[in-house]
Amino acid sequence: HVKPRLVGGDTACSGRVEIIHGDTWATVCDAHFDLKVADVICTELQCGIAASVLGGAHFGEGQGLVWTEDFHCVVNESLLFSCPSISRVNQTCSHANDAGVTCSRFRLVNGSTACSGRVEIQVRGAWGTLCDSRWDLSDANVLCRQLDCGFAVLVPGGGHFGKGTGPVWADTFHCEGTEPHLGHCPVTALGALCSHDNDASVVCSGPGLSGALRLLSGESRCDGRVEISLRGVWSRVLDDQWDMNDASVVCRQLQCGAAERAYNPPSSERGMGPVGMRRVQCAGNETRLTSCDNSPSEPAQAGIAEDVGVVCSGSRRIRLANGPGRCAGRVEIYYNGTWGTVCDDSWDLPDADVVCKQLGCGHALNATVSAHYGQGSGQIWLDDVKCSGNESDLWACPFAPWGQHNCRHKEDAGVLCSEFTDLRLVSGSDCAGRLEVFYNGTWGSVCSNQMSTVTASIICKQLNCGDGGYTETDPEYGEGSGPTWLDHVTCREQHSSLWQCPSRPWEQQSCDNRAEETHISCTGKKEKPPQPLFAECPNSTSCTDRDKLRLVGGEGNCSGRVEVWYRGSWGTVCDDSWDLADANVTCKQLGCGAAVSALGEAAFGEGTGPIWVEMLDCRGTESSLWDCPAKPWGDSPCGHKEDAAVNCSG
Ligand SMILES: *[C@@H]1O[C@H](CO)[C@@H](O)[C@H](O)[C@H]1NC(C)=O
Ligand SMILES: *[C@@H]1O[C@H](CO)[C@@H](O)[C@H](O)[C@H]1NC(C)=O
Ligand SMILES: *[C@@H]1O[C@H](CO)[C@@H](O)[C@H](O)[C@H]1NC(C)=O
Ligand SMILES: *[C@@H]1O[C@H](CO)[C@@H](O)[C@H](O)[C@H]1NC(C)=O
Ligand SMILES: *[C@@H]1O[C@H](CO)[C@@H](O)[C@H](O)[C@H]1NC(C)=O
Ligand SMILES: *[C@@H]1O[C@H](CO)[C@@H](O)[C@H](O)[C@H]1NC(C)=O
Ligand SMILES: *[C@@H]1O[C@H](CO)[C@@H](O)[C@H](O)[C@H]1NC(C)=O
Repeated sequence: HVKPRLVGGDTACSGRVEIIHGDTWATVCDAHFDLKVADVICTELQCGIAASVLGGAHFGEGQGLVWTEDFHCVVNESLLFSCPSISRVNQTCSHANDAGVTCSRFRLVNGSTACSGRVEIQVRGAWGTLCDSRWDLSDANVLCRQLDCGFAVLVPGGGHFGKGTGPVWADTFHCEGTEPHLGHCPVTALGALCSHDNDASVVCSGPGLSGALRLLSGESRCDGRVEISLRGVWSRVLDDQWDMNDASVVCRQLQCGAAERAYNPPSSERGMGPVGMRRVQCAGNETRLTSCDNSPSEPAQAGIAEDVGVVCSGSRRIRLANGPGRCAGRVEIYYNGTWGTVCDDSWDLPDADVVCKQLGCGHALNATVSAHYGQGSGQIWLDDVKCSGNESDLWACPFAPWGQHNCRHKEDAGVLCSEFTDLRLVSGSDCAGRLEVFYNGTWGSVCSNQMSTVTASIICKQLNCGDGGYTETDPEYGEGSGPTWLDHVTCREQHSSLWQCPSRPWEQQSCDNRAEETHISCTGKKEKPPQPLFAECPNSTSCTDRDKLRLVGGEGNCSGRVEVWYRGSWGTVCDDSWDLADANVTCKQLGCGAAVSALGEAAFGEGTGPIWVEMLDCRGTESSLWDCPAKPWGDSPCGHKEDAAVNCSG
């Protein structure tokens, strides 16, 4: 009787191999432990196949016995028990040699290499395929890395690697691309359209040349601090004259596009490990970093202590911030290593359409303007965007040069896409009613075929209406008039929201008649959500300019030293060119009437912290101090003895 388990990993499908012996568990020596043995263990544990074998007590040292035999699995044994085993001779094994395995429930089938093919997933011991309704490069990247196959080069559609058999899993992953494992990505399944005609597939790069470099602490695999693998050890690269030529070589080797920036990371992002290279001098056309000149003289070497980083064009990405869901919000772009927003000048539906398609969110319903989803901060990357609507990325559209604009964050652009979903119960009360889902811009009902109490309970929990619920057999809450969007919704206990449950695909008319509409009663009552939706002002992105201005040190709220909130802290205003027009805008913005006097030289005492702005030159008619011309905001060289102040009439 031989029965394995895996201990000390993230899940029950990775860890140190242990085998039960009588009633104690023994570890296994890594000396003759190979991928075939690991495969049998993964199969026996219904964990898929072996992705890697890790010796040297990778998952920590076990205790007690070390198994005294080596397993020699041949091919396709399904139990470790069936593998021949041979008593170990001569080899001394201690717990420092404990073997470990990482299994994968994913495999790639029918590709020309081990790192390409149709994606298959094992669920409860049976292999099936994955629906590609929203399968994209970011998701594929995570899978490639997880399978030790580098990064994703391509996600071919239309059954490129043949049709699978078995179930098609409707799980739709929404990965950022940097997750260590698909299990870390949010998943939805509701309404997905799947068949073996569109089984997901991928072509991964394979380990290859780019596998010798990696970028850390960036937002993607294409930006961050550089590390190089030398003789299997990840090591730092140090250089105090790191430039764009050097960065170009790194970006090329990683197949990440063109270099956008070469930099030395701040001390908080410094590396800790061994140093692999010091002072690299590339011409810019080399194919790998190790081909660059890397032979500084001994004395020159000693002083070099700066890590190096790059941002390649392959790191560009897009997201929707501060919205009510994945497919609605303020448009933000990651460019040159920084997130920034888009200005609403000439922002329209074709522009929004490109964003929605790029995010796998269907098509655009609204192109929102004037910071509808709150004001962002930092860079405003794009202005005057003029897409025709068929571009594949927002940055493929014509727009003013990167970062050039005449906008403020109160003009931040947003989108509402067709795949934005929401949920409600329609009736007089909050926690009982006819079930409706919002999809493609319209509320519609849900048909009750196969609707279980598990599904009803998940909906109630999601609506904050207690842990339990049931479907009403009588249509107590009237008939709907919109589409009947969904049918055959089948949630299971492991799902945490309706969006994760499989169902028939979205359709205008999913059921035959209104009598099939779902009516639900929950056991609980609506409670206030435990946390405020937004951060407190002035930290929140939804705060107005008025919330970011205050008067300190005077009597009441309408006189005092002028303080402004900027880059996450309160600071003061320098009195250079401070006059009644500037003071007027300040008073009006605070609802304090008109200005009585504009005071300088810290009339209400000196402030602390940064002095955020100087040379303000308001006309007096502006509604916000932020709209007045001034020297660029940022820490000014003025002293706090020059802090500006006002007395308002209010
Ligand atoms: C392995 O598979 C081959 C062919 O499918 C079969 O002939 C053989 O008996 C199998 N071996 C074991 C140990 O199951
Ligand atoms: C064990 O070690 C001894 C001495 O080092 C050697 O003569 C012998 O061949 C080894 N046996 C095996 C099975 O490797
Ligand atoms: C493998 O893919 C080819 C098409 O590229 C297809 O004709 C063939 O049936 C596939 N085989 C399997 C086992 O899926
Ligand atoms: C990226 O930012 C750096 C400074 O942070 C700047 O020097 C460089 O020109 C920028 N690159 C691009 C392509 O905008
Ligand atoms: C790079 O460019 C230089 C000069 O332009 C040339 O001499 C050298 O051969 C090139 N190297 C490679 C690897 O292409
Ligand atoms: C979307 O646009 C329509 C028409 O312009 C408008 O009626 C609707 O309120 C907008 N919805 C949202 C959520 O902004
Ligand atoms: C988009 O469509 C226009 C015409 O409507 C065409 O000229 C242009 O080449 C298309 N662009 C792309 C990227 O397909």
